[in-house]
Amino acid sequence: MQVGVFGATGQVGSVMLALLQERRFPATSVRLFGTQRSAGRLMRWADRDVVVESAADADFSGIDIALCSMGATASRSLAPAIAAAGAVVIDNSSAWRMDPEVPLVVPEVNRKDASHRPKGIIANPNCTTMIAMPSLAALRDAVGLEAVLATTFQAVSGAGRAGVAELANQVASAGDATPLAFDGSAVGVGPVDKFPAPIAYNVVPMAGALVDDETEEEHKFRNESRKILGLDSLAVHCTCVRVPVYTGHSVSVTVKLSSAMSTPEASKALASAPGNEFSDLPTPLLAAGRDPCFVGRVRTDEASRLASFFVSGDNLRKGAALNAIQIAEALV
Ligand SMILES: NC(=O)c1ccc[n+]([C@@H]2O[C@H](COP(=O)([O-])OP(=O)(O)OC[C@H]3O[C@@H](n4cnc5c(N)ncnc54)[C@H](OP(=O)(O)O)[C@@H]3O)[C@@H](O)[C@H]2O)c1
Repeated sequence: MQVGVFGATGQVGSVMLALLQERRFPATSVRLFGTQRSAGRLMRWADRDVVVESAADADFSGIDIALCSMGATASRSLAPAIAAAGAVVIDNSSAWRMDPEVPLVVPEVNRKDASHRPKGIIANPNCTTMIAMPSLAALRDAVGLEAVLATTFQAVSGAGRAGVAELANQVASAGDATPLAFDGSAVGVGPVDKFPAPIAYNVVPMAGALVDDETEEEHKFRNESRKILGLDSLAVHCTCVRVPVYTGHSVSVTVKLSSAMSTPEASKALASAPGNEFSDLPTPLLAAGRDPCFVGRVRTDEASRLASFFVSGDNLRKGAALNAIQIAEALV
């Protein structure tokens, strides 16, 4: 079993490499790919040094499973060639998720969809959508869903290494000026590039680029939720917010249920959902570096058939690398 890790030098790629070993994935060898910039670099895997190859110039034959996290542009051009060379491609980018010939899979929710893959490509959902999926599937199965209203709290690592660097640089550049913020004075942070407003000591209610009056992240949350849950006309309305957290996405969700549930009933359904772990106080720090999505703060209003909860999960693990490897495990 040869596994190719595309985007191996990135955040998701490095978590992939760690998880392949941690979960004892039955790979006999790995090949690592990045851009021309990274070609020739040595990375450790299973006590050996592996040379990073340039994906643009590589021969993909011999790869059985390709774990891709190299961005949508690279994936659009390279994934078909990798699949044509014989690999099953599991792709983390947004490039293929809404393609009707590409299954969008969360193993705990729709594992069987992975078996029908006419293009040889399986897509991994957006990291924010992913974190809410076990919970929404549990409520769908328990009583049915009529509508989903969500507000996200997305970590900067969800925007790649550049997002992490921007928060770190802004915190550093604010330096000693930070305490002034407590007096209501402006904190001088900069430079601002990756996000539309300073992210240090701030909250930015626009994650992802604007598509229309919504951002691309808000579109992904709606469209991907519908596809994974198999509910094509589910009403989904979401506000995607970037917060100064390094790792761990959170989502505050209110759903309109098809039948009323009491708070204990909803709590039980959410806590027992595969992929979830109940927490009295789910936070991104609790979730960072861990596999489950932590769900809690459950409240229902039986008269109006509403249920609210808060869920936090590691965007680099379950939101990306872990889910991709769980799909690969299901294939194996
Ligand atoms: N971060 C998250 O929470 C998250 C969650 C779910 C999905 N994703 C998706 O996963 C992908 C990677 O995210 P990330 O956070 O790991 O980004 P990242 O840290 O910025 O890393 C990007 C990786 O992609 C490689 N790459 C870029 N262009 C390439 C090309 N043309 N050919 C081959 N490799 C190329 C880079 O190689 P070099 O080092 O050589 O530049 C690097 O290894 C994105 O599609 C993202 O949307 C991310």
